[in-house]
Amino acid sequence: MTRPDVLQIGSYPADDQSALERDFTMHRYLDAADKAGFLAGVAPMCRAIATRGDLGAGREMLNACPQLEMVAVFGVGTDAVDLDLCRARGIRVTNTPGVLTDDVADLAVAMMLAQARGVVGADAWVRSGAWAAQGSFALQRKVSGRRAGILGLGRIGLAVARRLVGFGMPIAYCSPQAKETPVGWTYQPDPVDLAAQSDVLFVTLAATPATRHIVGAAVLAALGPAGMLINVSRAANVDEAALLAALESGALGSAALDVFEGEPTVDPRFLTAPNMLLQPHAGSGTVETRAAMGRLVRDNLRAHFAGAPLLTPVV
Ligand code: 8YV
Repeated sequence: MTRPDVLQIGSYPADDQSALERDFTMHRYLDAADKAGFLAGVAPMCRAIATRGDLGAGREMLNACPQLEMVAVFGVGTDAVDLDLCRARGIRVTNTPGVLTDDVADLAVAMMLAQARGVVGADAWVRSGAWAAQGSFALQRKVSGRRAGILGLGRIGLAVARRLVGFGMPIAYCSPQAKETPVGWTYQPDPVDLAAQSDVLFVTLAATPATRHIVGAAVLAALGPAGMLINVSRAANVDEAALLAALESGALGSAALDVFEGEPTVDPRFLTAPNMLLQPHAGSGTVETRAAMGRLVRDNLRAHFAGAPLLTPVV
């Protein structure tokens, strides 16, 4: 059987790449110098697009593929895929939910601890010889027992909250409607009210047009000069200009971000902003989880071309 033609948008771990190439004819858009020419040449024969959560497949890419049957996303976020156009054209869309939940939640908690306790700065303090030369590292902030706010109680937000219970942190959350949660968790329908009762605010909600800049000046002011913002969702959920202004003025205590507008290029103001921890969109970035994501991408593609039910359909 001929291997179906698949348009590959971004890079995958080597093992996933090899496995895909065994079953499919992979046309690597990411390697093309002349991307428009490449699309014109191969896109008309591609029956599927293999992309990533951070890269997606927009209207132009979808329209370049008249034979397209399916978009397989390596990641849980499908905000960069034009889902409305996929629905209108009957194009199936799959993602890789569940397998990455623990990793993203683990990193969110690690970012909170690292930021609050100054782990990166303390490492530099030892390496630079400052400890011997200048004495103790500056006192940092306690985490256990501080109030946690979860903006978006989906799989990842719930996993974060469950981890924070172990730190004795009271949990409040914001979601479109109240959910069945452990006793004592507080539902806050308004993001500003949630921030006002939080010391650490985790942004763990899917990015949609309705959530764009949901964390803006009002939420940041409510979180306040002792508050910490952690974003492991999508940059679009945070107004970066407002965040930078709040950090630089001291209106917000600190922030830890794993996602950025225009990534991997980052606004240079983040590099000098005070009390800032930066991560390179590494939430799902472990060997184990990326292997599980890759398997789901392949299993969904194989299922589609075998006429079998998709494992994790979005559309
Ligand atoms: C990305 C993510 O997919 O799951 C998501 O939506 O943001 C990440 O896991 C990452 O770019 C994988 O390469």
